[in-house]
Amino acid sequence: MNYKIAVIPGDGIGPEVVGAATQVLDRVGEKFGHTFIGQTLLAGGCAIDACGKALPDETLAACKQSDAVLLGAVGGPMWDTLPGAARPEQALLSLRKELALFANLRPAILFEELISASPLKPEIIGEGLDILVVRELTGGIYFGDKGIKDGGKSAYDVEEYSEEEVRRIAQTAFSMADKRGKRLASVDKANVLESSRLWRRVVGEIAAQYPQISLSHMYVDNAAMQLVCAPGQFDVILTSNIFGDILSDEASMITGSIGMLPSASLTYGNFGMYEPIHGSAPDIAGLDKANPMAAVLSVAMMLRYTFGLKEEANAVEEAVKAVLAKGYRTPDIYRKADGETLIGTKEAGKRIADEIMDS
Ligand code: IPM
Ligand code: MG
Repeated sequence: MNYKIAVIPGDGIGPEVVGAATQVLDRVGEKFGHTFIGQTLLAGGCAIDACGKALPDETLAACKQSDAVLLGAVGGPMWDTLPGAARPEQALLSLRKELALFANLRPAILFEELISASPLKPEIIGEGLDILVVRELTGGIYFGDKGIKDGGKSAYDVEEYSEEEVRRIAQTAFSMADKRGKRLASVDKANVLESSRLWRRVVGEIAAQYPQISLSHMYVDNAAMQLVCAPGQFDVILTSNIFGDILSDEASMITGSIGMLPSASLTYGNFGMYEPIHGSAPDIAGLDKANPMAAVLSVAMMLRYTFGLKEEANAVEEAVKAVLAKGYRTPDIYRKADGETLIGTKEAGKRIADEIMDS
């Protein structure tokens, strides 16, 4: 089969981690007999520099004509002084909105080899930590009415959700929970926010279709606390755009490094955009220090969710595990322990790709 992928390396460490991810993808193609046709496209700060626009029309059009999108990261200090609507991040937000990618899946899985890299004590982490954050991605305060008033003396961003927006993301979360541990924690701030009270009501209504799933509602402040004191209680976390942004960074650190967490942004049907949850990390850009595992694991999610290639997805995940098991560590997860070898982005990508061939 031929698969068409829009590849957006973006800024900072984006090109480095995407380079590793596409190398792994090519190797999957060789081993399993698929052709992945990647088209490299500009978006983010590099697009602002090249053509004055964070999301060029050609990039959006090419994404729409592809089966999937692979994205590195966007943004950096060079563009931090630009007004909101002209910032590199706008490329990402527009892609999400234009491609209707309302369901963002962020799995936080702790690989056994990385227990010592987690800032939490092993007894708190427990066995086999595996949390899936399901984040609503095209609504809420990110896309609500916003503005500046009183000559810049005041500013506002509105959090708003419709029943339909909550319904469709809740459906995604319940069906994911059904395929996993059958536990769903819906996170909101219903003790304060009207939009959260609507959220809680709609999630409760959808729950009636899933009697086999145990649903709990949790306030976001409590959820943030529970994540670091008893993370093992969570299976699937369903939450809004902004709460999901914050909680997924928190969940990622439990797994040892934000450099480990992939994500899938899905719509109706099979199309999806895949990206590591980390940012462009300008401080280490170009230094061969970035951890490409989040980007590589994003490719595994692409293989699984958009292309339905389970065996191939498993092969990528197993390859990452094998490299970790052999003790290879990028700086973010290197603890100078016995048996650990410090490696760079390029070597990590090559080693993961080689494992695919050997498996
Ligand atoms: C993320 C990022 C983005 C977000 C930024 C870069 C706009 O933090 O994907 O988590 O806030 O959604
Ligand atoms: Mg974020």
